[in-house]
Amino acid sequence: GAGAVAMADTTGGGPGNPDEPFAVPLRQARVLRPLGAGAGGGRHGMGYDVYRLSPRETDVAVVPGTTTRMRLFNGEPVPVIRATRGRPVVIQQTNGLGVPFAMHLHGGHVPAHDDGHPDDELLTGAGRVFYYPNDQQASSMWLHDHSLHAHAENVYFGAVAGYLLTDDFERRLPLPKGRYDVPLYLRDAKFAADGSLVYDMGGFMNRPTVLVNGRPRPYFEVAARKYRIRLTNTSNERAFLLQLGEGDEMTHIASDGGLLPAPYATRALEIWPAERQEVVIDFSRYPVGTKLVLANRIAYRGEAPEVMRFDVVRTAEDRSSVPDRLRPVADVGTPTVERTFVMSFDAATGAHLINGKPFDPERVDIRPRLGNTEIWTVHNTDTKFGIPHSMHTHLEHFQIVDRDGAAPAPGEAGWKDTVTVMPGKSVRFKLKFTDYTGKFMYHCHLLGHMTMGMMGQMEVVDRTARRA
Ligand code: C2O
Ligand code: CU
Repeated sequence: GAGAVAMADTTGGGPGNPDEPFAVPLRQARVLRPLGAGAGGGRHGMGYDVYRLSPRETDVAVVPGTTTRMRLFNGEPVPVIRATRGRPVVIQQTNGLGVPFAMHLHGGHVPAHDDGHPDDELLTGAGRVFYYPNDQQASSMWLHDHSLHAHAENVYFGAVAGYLLTDDFERRLPLPKGRYDVPLYLRDAKFAADGSLVYDMGGFMNRPTVLVNGRPRPYFEVAARKYRIRLTNTSNERAFLLQLGEGDEMTHIASDGGLLPAPYATRALEIWPAERQEVVIDFSRYPVGTKLVLANRIAYRGEAPEVMRFDVVRTAEDRSSVPDRLRPVADVGTPTVERTFVMSFDAATGAHLINGKPFDPERVDIRPRLGNTEIWTVHNTDTKFGIPHSMHTHLEHFQIVDRDGAAPAPGEAGWKDTVTVMPGKSVRFKLKFTDYTGKFMYHCHLLGHMTMGMMGQMEVVDRTARRA
């Protein structure tokens, strides 16, 4: 079913240019209301909330003067669920797409049967219920497809939602809240002249349009005060190196797994696909009337670097602040198991491999034991073609130990679930397996690589299971 949803101002006349910057206002991601609530539930008995979140084809106005058929949750670009630790979320879903769908909560610590395993694909028209316990610390997560063959396309066509989990610790901090806590979902895209989205798996250098919350290079009217900006990169393959104004300071406060141990000031913010980076920007430094461009310093040749613009339009009261210390990172203990993952590209077949093998749903690659802490080394050996890779682990966040022997930079000192390794480089991280047994994925989050095999399967086994 394709109902037209007006997203951009259509100015009449011919189709607009998707790359004309700042022609449309930012659309704030809509926070979904629960359908209802249940009593009890969850480890803390706080009750739970029920949502409906179903992907379907929808015609939306993205580029002024045209409509674009997308695959959207509930027919809208990037709806957001806001959840609270200790209060589970139940999601009812029907697959309204013509392809299989397997929703994954990226960053979620959830039971295996709710994790979006390829064995759990929903066929067209089928429905199911997901249960997310929310028994983990506050962080900005997101929902996306993980079906075996259609994930890259389904993500590209927009089936993405935000999932922002908060907790008491975070709520007590004086960070900007409410309307001054703004999630922004960035991605690239390629539009044909008629407004349709063009998907070409290998065409990652030919997606020149940048969308923020589903709109091309928008402007956002802000007050002259501090904002918490939660960035998520939902692109299939594109990285951004974001710079504000002339390289003005932003305070980096959180990454994939939530708040950093300490904030720090940065003049550039790198964000790879699937990563989350949160900053506090203080617009009170600028007079009302200032227009500040957020630009991508690593745009490909010929692309417009502008991502969006912040227009400071009014003053506002501000009692928020960024404390010197945010959230200490818990100790995961001493690793007792070491594993190595070699990421490589096989030019002869076009396959992307982990430890020489493409993904096989019938094969379990590793069997971590519940309760163990492990240390993983990820090597990117793709120096010949210069291909970066981004390792993502399901189920558990990890702590970076080092990059080729060097301690992590301040922005990588918190909990992570996705880490990019440049060609010829390696990274070590440690992670502890807790709560859930069963089969989970780990993979490169550059989705073309994942489609071409760069994924493995781990089965978390309990302490008494036979070693494999
Ligand atoms: Cu965001 Cu296995 O993925
Ligand atoms: Cu890769």
